[in-house]
Amino acid sequence: GEEIKARIEAKRQASVLGGGLKRIATQHAKGKLTARERIELLVDPGTFREYDAFVEHQCTAFGMSSQTITGDGVVTGVGKINGRTTFLFSQDFTSFGGSLSKTFAQKVCKIMDRAMQAGAPVVGLNDSGGARIQEGVDSLAGYAEIFQRNVLASGVVPQISLIMGPCAGGAVYSPALTDFTFMVRNTSYLFVTGPDVVKAVTNETVTQEELGGAAAHTRKSGVAHGAFDNDVVALAQTRELLSYLPQSNRQPAADRFTADPVDRADEALDTLVPADSTKAYDIKDVVRRIVDDGRFFEIMPDYAKNIIIGFSRVGGQSVGIVGNQPLVSSGVLDINASIKAARFVRFCDAFNIPLVTFVDVPGFLPGTQQEHNGIIREGAKLLYAYAEATVPKIAITTRKAYGGAQCVMSSKQLRGDVNLAWPTAELAVMGAKGAVEILWRNDKEGRASAEEEYNRLFANPLPAAQRGYLDDIIRPADSRKRIIEELEILRSKQLTNPAKKHDNMPL
Ligand code: COA
Repeated sequence: GEEIKARIEAKRQASVLGGGLKRIATQHAKGKLTARERIELLVDPGTFREYDAFVEHQCTAFGMSSQTITGDGVVTGVGKINGRTTFLFSQDFTSFGGSLSKTFAQKVCKIMDRAMQAGAPVVGLNDSGGARIQEGVDSLAGYAEIFQRNVLASGVVPQISLIMGPCAGGAVYSPALTDFTFMVRNTSYLFVTGPDVVKAVTNETVTQEELGGAAAHTRKSGVAHGAFDNDVVALAQTRELLSYLPQSNRQPAADRFTADPVDRADEALDTLVPADSTKAYDIKDVVRRIVDDGRFFEIMPDYAKNIIIGFSRVGGQSVGIVGNQPLVSSGVLDINASIKAARFVRFCDAFNIPLVTFVDVPGFLPGTQQEHNGIIREGAKLLYAYAEATVPKIAITTRKAYGGAQCVMSSKQLRGDVNLAWPTAELAVMGAKGAVEILWRNDKEGRASAEEEYNRLFANPLPAAQRGYLDDIIRPADSRKRIIEELEILRSKQLTNPAKKHDNMPL
């Protein structure tokens, strides 16, 4: 009796220490927290309930039977984040380099299954040397078990990945399947093959950081949705992000009380769009002036900056914001912007988060680079995402809405619920200059007066409003009040798509 109790206690203690004090010191020396320290910062104090702390691997190859670390390289369990149940796993680099064994994968799968049944998010903290080499195919099977669950959970419960150390080879595909992936600057990297393999195969010389560091993935590849300076900030920001999300697709996101008045008018919006339509302004200024307390949780701030995406609240209700950004390339739609916004729109739709879209778009980016890389297919993704979305959709056109891009950006015909415009809006096939150059090709003298005529007729919101393509033209200062009013009405919106096995969106 006493003997077994002592053994249990010893195992539990061993599990808390993971790979031991020396390896914990090495972890700290690298500027990284341990798996358990991370969990403590992620969850509300004292709420973590661990499972499978006693798990040990069953591998016997390469003398592994004499090398066990209780817990086997991953800490799994459930805790509260902002008072709400969240399942999590935290890979422990101090135990076998956080490498994934068969039992490690079973622990992760167990909490993913629990999360699906409970209807609660899964957060994965990644810090691992990849497949446990001594376990061979068992380890690969373990990854595939996790991938299968990531896919089935997609659109059912929110899944968030934090990359807080190495994540290479097969390990990268679980984060890639989740909804949001965040990295820590200088201590994390993601790649399918590391610098040594790259050198051997392509003869390229590249550092880990250049190949798969936070800068590479938040600016170039778009694989990661954000980067933070250290573990502490990354964990705090994950808590913030989760506050905007529902627990699952079966529940609405939680409202949060705000002291920001629902009828607050912002006079500065009336003059924010420059009279000269070639002058830029920051669409994030517009967003911050409208949403509760000026808070905008931006997603992918460093990628395809010509479009902005992120979460805010209006009147306490969580919303997804999409906006063309006139400050960057006049807010033109290109391949990267389209992909960035499309996945975000689909996330919001899957989780019943209403969409508020700010439109100021001169069109799609012309050129061989874009055409040959498939802007037709890629641009169709954003169009597709808006068209299939059944969540409440509100759009405000602040200035330009030209050509095909006008149709794409949450237009009335893509089942937009409420399409509003500011008096500065111009909904047209193209700008006056371009139009006149085509129609008055052979009549240079006539161009000046034609341009004036075109502007008077087309470069304003009236033609669209007269046809019901816009529901109303509003004073910019009243935007907040109007969005809140419309969202309140849309709370009981019901709309479903035709039954199908699944769609065939252009990929
Ligand atoms: N399988 C088993 N053990 C592993 C491992 C793996 N995939 N990756 C790391 N480890 C172990 C190391 O043997 C080491 O054990 P020790 O503390 O008992 O000496 C410990 O984890 C720490 O690894 P180390 O190499 O000392 O850390 P590092 O910070 O210098 O390097 C990596 C980290 C990830 C770059 C390096 O460990 C590595 O290249 N691992 C193999 C990556 C790989 O190819 N994985 C398979 C692809 S799916």
